[in-house]
Amino acid sequence: MLPKTIIRHISQFAGVRDAAKYVPRRALLYVPASNQKMLDKVPMMQADSVVLELEDGVALTAKADARVRAAAALDKLPYHTLACQELGLRVNSVSSGLLEDDIIAVSKAEKLPQAFMIPKVDCPEDLVTIYNIFREHYGDERITNTNTRLVIWIESARALLDMPRIVSSTLNLHKQAGFFKLDAVVFGSDDFCADIGATRSSHGTETLFARQKFVTCCKAFQLQAIDSVYIDIKDLDGLRRQSAEGWQWGFTGKQVIHPSQVSVVQEQFLPPKDRIEWAQELVHAYSEHEALGKGAFQFRGQMIDRPLLLQALNIIQLVERVQN
Ligand code: COA
Ligand code: MG
Repeated sequence: MLPKTIIRHISQFAGVRDAAKYVPRRALLYVPASNQKMLDKVPMMQADSVVLELEDGVALTAKADARVRAAAALDKLPYHTLACQELGLRVNSVSSGLLEDDIIAVSKAEKLPQAFMIPKVDCPEDLVTIYNIFREHYGDERITNTNTRLVIWIESARALLDMPRIVSSTLNLHKQAGFFKLDAVVFGSDDFCADIGATRSSHGTETLFARQKFVTCCKAFQLQAIDSVYIDIKDLDGLRRQSAEGWQWGFTGKQVIHPSQVSVVQEQFLPPKDRIEWAQELVHAYSEHEALGKGAFQFRGQMIDRPLLLQALNIIQLVERVQN
């Protein structure tokens, strides 16, 4: 239980805007909607966020079938009994020309996914197209003031450089028109490498600048930042290393493509036990010092002030939500 004096700090801490509705997305697992055998496993999947995939995980020749299966899954799956915290749906991008057909098909389902996920958002103008397609096929009532969240992907050089404008346009669409609220942004590493002509390597230095710029921008807007895919499914040590690195850099989760990657990633995106204890004790110490009018004080040999409190609160909120 957090001291009352600390609660008012929560609304401002990085990565978590609304503590009551915080959805952890430590692992975001793609399930190609063209594959019924994989779809049937969704209720048991332990990834925080399970994504019914219509984009690059589905062949062009299987898109129509995948749309029908995804719509049926939305209506069939009882969200509150799923092992995951969120059932998302990733549609195709504006530039693919396939988005409208996706929305025509999935809007036939009675239920919306808990998050709509939109890849390759390249410029603020894409948002206008997206909003108009949703309005036309869902109607204003179904897409405004719902609990359904929005997650977007940044996957090109242009999008990375224009990210602040893309993110603020998306947030404004929620504020002004009530469209789905943006909650997280995902870095599409493989498409990004293709876009800039980089060669993928296991050490990942080719995306170093992009990942750091990306995470900084997400945090500037207090949004979750979801890291690259690790495509070597058999290399769990490499996955663990890259997940730990992402966590240290401020990412809040990572995309995964195979069920065997889920627990490795989710473990790395939870702070270790001693860090959780540190956070809990720090919050209480801060509350006591604040009552005495002290904003900075010593704790376990370190200088503590408000930014450290905010880091501790990030940890506490994440742990509480995952344990619940
Ligand atoms: N979702 C659900 N189940 C999955 C899965 C996934 N993403 N990936 C694998 N499985 C299941 C398989 O169906 C298989 O089930 P079974 O034991 O009942 O036969 C089991 O896990 C083991 O799978 P495995 O044989 O190791 O892999 P595979 O060859 O069947 O699948 C991929 C490998 C890469 C094709 C698959 O993991 C996949 O499609 N991942 C998502 C790809 C994607 O969406 N990419 C776009 C975003 S980057
Ligand atoms: Mg991509």
